[in-house]
Amino acid sequence: MCAPLPPTTAQIHSLVVHPRARGNGRGERLFLSLEDEAREAGHENALLYVLEGNPARRLYARLGYQVVPTPALPGVPAMLRYPGIAMSKPFPAVLAIAGATPDVARAV
Ligand SMILES: CC(C)(COP(=O)(O)OP(=O)(O)OC[C@H]1O[C@@H](n2cnc3c(N)ncnc32)[C@H](O)[C@@H]1OP(=O)(O)O)[C@@H](O)C(=O)NCCC(=O)NCCS
Repeated sequence: MCAPLPPTTAQIHSLVVHPRARGNGRGERLFLSLEDEAREAGHENALLYVLEGNPARRLYARLGYQVVPTPALPGVPAMLRYPGIAMSKPFPAVLAIAGATPDVARAV
C-alpha cells in the first residue's frame, strides 16, 4: 500500500503499545522517534490512518497530525484500502546551520 504514495511521504501504521504499558508517553516517544528517522531519510511529511472512534486520534492531534483527504491510490482496489481517516503531519524544514546540534537545527 505504500508504493503509490509520493516518496516524500512516510506512512506510519500499526503502532501498538502493550495495554499494561499505555498512558506513560511510550506511544508519543515512539512516534517522535519514527518521525526523526523519516525526516532523516528525506521524507517531508508523515501519513497515517486511524479508525473513527480510536482514542489514538487525540494523541495524533497532540503530535500535530491533521485530518486530510484520503490519498488517491490509483490501481489499488477499494477493498484493499485502509478503512480509516487519513491524518498527516508536515515536517518542518531543517536548515543547515554550521555548528548547530541536530536539536537546534530541528527546532528552527
Ligand atoms: C495508540 C497507542 C500506541 C498509544 O500508546 P501510549 O503509550 O498509550 O501513548 P502515550 O502514553 O504517549 O499517549 C497517550 C495518549 O494516547 C491516546 N490514547 C490512545 N488510546 C487510548 C485509550 N485506549 N485510552 C485513552 N487514551 C488513549 C490519548 O490521546 C492519550 O493521551 P491523552 O489521554 O492525554 O489524550 C496505544 O494506545 C495503543 O497501542 N493502542 C492500541 C493500538 C492502536 O489503536 N494503535 C493505533 C492504530 S492507528
